[in-house]
Amino acid sequence: MNIVMVGSGYVGLVSGACFADFGHNVTCVDKDVGKIDALKAGRIPIFEPGLAEIVAKNMKSGQLAFTTELNEAAAAADAVFIAVGTPSRRGDGHADLSYVHEAAREIARAVKGFTVVVTKSTVPVGTGDDVERIIGETNKDADIAVASNPEFLREGAAISDFKRPDRIVVGTDDPRARQVMNEIYRPLFINASPMMFTTRRTAELIKYAGNAFLAMKITFINEIADLCERVGADVQEVARGIGSDNRIGSKFLHAGPGYGGSCFPKDTLALVKTAQDHDAPLRLIETTVAVNDQRKRAMARKIISAMGGDVRGKTIAILGLTFKPNTDDMRESPALSIVQTLQDAGAVIRAYDPEGMEQAKPLMPDVAFCKNPYEAAKDAAAIALVTEWDQFRALDFKRLKKAVATPLLVDLRNVYRPDEVSRHGFTIVGVGRKA
Ligand code: UGA
Repeated sequence: MNIVMVGSGYVGLVSGACFADFGHNVTCVDKDVGKIDALKAGRIPIFEPGLAEIVAKNMKSGQLAFTTELNEAAAAADAVFIAVGTPSRRGDGHADLSYVHEAAREIARAVKGFTVVVTKSTVPVGTGDDVERIIGETNKDADIAVASNPEFLREGAAISDFKRPDRIVVGTDDPRARQVMNEIYRPLFINASPMMFTTRRTAELIKYAGNAFLAMKITFINEIADLCERVGADVQEVARGIGSDNRIGSKFLHAGPGYGGSCFPKDTLALVKTAQDHDAPLRLIETTVAVNDQRKRAMARKIISAMGGDVRGKTIAILGLTFKPNTDDMRESPALSIVQTLQDAGAVIRAYDPEGMEQAKPLMPDVAFCKNPYEAAKDAAAIALVTEWDQFRALDFKRLKKAVATPLLVDLRNVYRPDEVSRHGFTIVGVGRKA
């Protein structure tokens, strides 16, 4: 199949590279000349394990190409995927669809012969209808079917999520579109990945409902963690105890500093707005958004209180800045609010992250960025573990003890058990368990 991916961001690039790896001919298009030039030269703009190798291999074999010119590729395409950004619109939290609409207009002018136009960007219910209308208005001769095919990959595990999905959701009523989509995903049938066909609007809502449910699940366990601290229970055991019930499931029950990233914060907000507009408010999700927002600053207060309540002039070492491990993405990372709140309280911040420091630097003024955890810990009155990178799972506590001013670890991801660190003389404060 000839596939065009409009938008070479996270989803576009990973999907394009994986489709090429399945044997399709893929052209990834982006308006950003610098990004396309970099990709052509083999430089990947994001940190995602395994992606650089797949891109290089498929560029070499000719399955994968990059361009800023949509027309030629779209004219030969069986399917054109829209994978452009849908950021939160400034002011009201609705998804900003201007890039999607612009892509639809350009695609309308470029396609030749029957083409399936597929929205892979996360878009509110009804966007597929808009795309279809815009294409029809721009080029009344365009022979297209518009389908919705939401993507469920996670940053940091994007390749394996794409290649081994729990399910593939396709929203379309058009039998020709259905055939093309079946053909595109045929390589996954060997793994028995279930393919679910539904209506376009249902597919669009499945994506938002999925992300909102996961965000709510995380927020639920975070609130239970707070309760655990008050009543002397252990949230990890509570999570295990409830998660082994198949109806609940054990995943996404890891208490921490609140969810971040480019998806959950933006998508929960957009879903809340859509629901309000349709007079069907989603109160659980409204509360999830509010609780998660407050949680990030509350984590800074937790660090301050562990340090005795006054952090003026004291050094705090922050280990991990990205919103989760295995990515360099800083978007909506809890570390941003935590560091800001600690600085407002007068603390001096030294920080280390294995991949995120380049992205973090412009967002975090007055932070000393260090070469490793031990340098960050120098003279620290507390170490706060904010992101659970593998590198932080076996820290050398003897070395840390020599570096710090006070041996105190605030472990916001519950990486360590108290007995593991106390024998090195460290006091540990975790999330959802007794100090
Ligand atoms: C999320 C979804 O998991 C993907 O299925 C979806 O495709 C993607 O959004 C998207 O819409 O594009 P992602 O944002 O990459 O993926 O990251 P997650 O692994 O879901 O983590 C999100 C946040 O939740 C992180 O800040 C993480 O630390 C936090 N989290 C996750 C917890 O605090 N506890 C958990 O148990 C799980």
